[in-house]
Amino acid sequence: MNNFASSLNINNKFLIFGAGFTGSFFAKTIRKIGCTVLTSSRSDKKDSNSFVFNSEKSAMPNEKIFDGVTHILSCVPPDKNGNDPVLERLKSKLKTLSLQWVGYLSTTGVYGNTNGDWVSEINEPKPFQRRSQKRLNCEKKWIESGLPVQIFRLPGIYGPGRSTFEAIRNKKILVISKKDQVFSRIHVADITNAIIYLLQNKNSLKFHQIINIADDEPCSQIEVIQYCYDLLGLKMPKPILFEDAKKELSPIAQSFWMENRRVSNKLLCETLGYKLIYKNYKIGLRNCFLDN
Ligand SMILES: NC(=O)c1ccc[n+]([C@@H]2O[C@H](COP(=O)([O-])OP(=O)(O)OC[C@H]3O[C@@H](n4cnc5c(N)ncnc54)[C@H](OP(=O)(O)O)[C@@H]3O)[C@@H](O)[C@H]2O)c1
Repeated sequence: MNNFASSLNINNKFLIFGAGFTGSFFAKTIRKIGCTVLTSSRSDKKDSNSFVFNSEKSAMPNEKIFDGVTHILSCVPPDKNGNDPVLERLKSKLKTLSLQWVGYLSTTGVYGNTNGDWVSEINEPKPFQRRSQKRLNCEKKWIESGLPVQIFRLPGIYGPGRSTFEAIRNKKILVISKKDQVFSRIHVADITNAIIYLLQNKNSLKFHQIINIADDEPCSQIEVIQYCYDLLGLKMPKPILFEDAKKELSPIAQSFWMENRRVSNKLLCETLGYKLIYKNYKIGLRNCFLDN
């Protein structure tokens, strides 16, 4: 499917569902390009660029916000039943619009556990966690919607205001050691810039419906924490073995340690030619450190 009509321009109007960490970063950046952007929130922000949308309370946006919309980005996770909150409530409405593009932020959790092996878009998703099964269900619903959707699978998202530095400052850090365990991650600015790059070059690039956005260097959590302590000029606490740390972790925190995979960005960075701003955690964390 490639029914993009034209490149990004100031006539474009974006609706961003879920202006949390990534959605609001994307909104701020795309506004600088000159596009009109309205963002959703579950509570009234008393801001003319924000509208209320809460799938659980049937708080629906006013019809007017849809006037002239060309692009949609959904950053809303699945609801507790595994349905997509935006599609559940608004699919019929979205289908009446002349949309050039719809983006959906998903997770690399849909790939399941690869025991540390690399995983790319051609691998069959094998979600292990219930939340990842729900996510894969939402991806399928977006694809089946017939909307011009592009899905971005994301690993751990970090950036200024949400990184290991905050965990250290808030004393919420546990330095855990688990043999051969790695995590993939991505800086929020690269999610935003990669999507903008794809939109700006859509006429010359082959359309891919599913794309991973991850940095070049999956690595252990200890390396990341050690690097933050070094930048702060502090001594890192002694690591605890995962088996010993387990009892202090919430079920959701434990579940992240049950999967081990390296997420490939070759489609985005080699085939499609996107150049990462933050190729690895060191460059990305330095940005977070200096931004404080
Ligand atoms: N965080 C990660 O490391 C990570 C990794 C991979 C993928 N993801 C996924 O990528 C997407 C963006 O991540 P993020 O961390 O930037 O998200 P986030 O900060 O948690 O923001 C999620 C947004 O969804 C909205 N939302 C949640 N449930 C809703 C509902 N039932 N109805 C309407 N709006 C609802 C929230 O509204 P309010 O603003 O009102 O709270 C919020 O704006 C999410 O789908 C997330 O699950 C996250």
